[in-house]
Amino acid sequence: MKKILVIGAFGQIGSELVPALRKKYGRDNVVACGHMHKPDESALNTGPHDFFDVTNKKALEDIVDKYDTDTIYHLASILSAAGEKNPQLAYFVNNTGTYNVLEVARERKLERVMIPSSIAVFGSDTPRDNTPNKTILRPSTMYGISKVHGEMLGHYYFHKFGVDVRGVRFPGIISNVAQPGGGTTDYAVDIFYYAVKHKPYTCFLKPDSTLPMMYMPDALKAIMQLAEADGSKLKHRTDFNLSAFSFSPAELAAAIKAELPDFKIDYKPDFRQAIADTWPRSIDDSAARAEWGWKPDYTLQAMVKDMIRELSKRL
Ligand code: SER
Repeated sequence: MKKILVIGAFGQIGSELVPALRKKYGRDNVVACGHMHKPDESALNTGPHDFFDVTNKKALEDIVDKYDTDTIYHLASILSAAGEKNPQLAYFVNNTGTYNVLEVARERKLERVMIPSSIAVFGSDTPRDNTPNKTILRPSTMYGISKVHGEMLGHYYFHKFGVDVRGVRFPGIISNVAQPGGGTTDYAVDIFYYAVKHKPYTCFLKPDSTLPMMYMPDALKAIMQLAEADGSKLKHRTDFNLSAFSFSPAELAAAIKAELPDFKIDYKPDFRQAIADTWPRSIDDSAARAEWGWKPDYTLQAMVKDMIRELSKRL
C-alpha cells in the first residue's frame, strides 16, 4: 500500500484525523507532516512524521517521493481571524500551499487530494439562512478568499488534468484535543476550557451571533467518507456544504449551564464579530447528503455532554 500524507497534521483537525486514518489504514501508512505547530514527543511517537514547509514546492516534492505518497490531506491553513492580522502570510500559505499540492498531485499522478474548504467562502451578499451549495461567494477575509481560490483551483485541476480533488466546506469545528488557532468560531472551543475549570468566560462574539458548527467526530467522518465516496456519483467536487447544528453563544452557554449550573458568561465583541456577521446562520447540505450519504451523528446537546466529559477527565 502507498502512503497517505497529512499536511498540517498537528493542527486542530490533523491531531484527530491522523489517529483516525491510522486506525483505518494502518499506523505506518499515514505520515503526519507539520511545520508551524511543534507537537510534543508523545504525539510524535504514535507513527511516521516529518516536517516541511508546504509553500516550498521542492520540499513538498521530496516528501511525496520519500514516502511513496498516493493521497494527500492538505489541512495547513491560516484561519480567518489570524489571517486578518497578517493577510500577506495568509495569502502566501493558503494560496501557494494549495497550488503546490495540486501541482505535485498533477505531476506525480496522485490518486486523491483532500482539501477542506470553509463557511468562510461566504460573504455579506450570500443568503444567511439555509445557505445553498451554489450561491454568491464574495468573502470579506483573506482566509475566505483563499478558500474560494482553493475550491476553484481544485475544480480546475479535476476537469483539466483529472486530479481527483475533493473537499467539504467545514463549519466551526468543536474539539477537545488540539485547540484551533486563530478562527472566528474558536470561542465555541475556548468556552469549554473555562466552563470545566469553573471559571467565567468572556465571549468575543455577541450573544445572538448564530453560526453553523460541528463536533469533531462528525468532521472526521465527513472528510473520510467523502475520500472513499464513489467518484462517479459526485456532481460537486471541492465545495460540499456540510451542516450539523447551528447555535449562538447564548444558546451554547445555556446548554453548558444545563450541565454545569454555576457557569457564567459575559460578552465583549471584538473585530471577529464583523467576520461572523458575514457568515451563514445555517447551511443547506442536501448535495452532500444526496451524493455521498452525509449525515451527522451529534446534536448540540450530545456534543456539549461529550466535550464536558472529555475535558473534565483531562483538566
Ligand atoms: N473555523 C474557521 C474560522 O473560524 C472557519 O472555517 O476561521
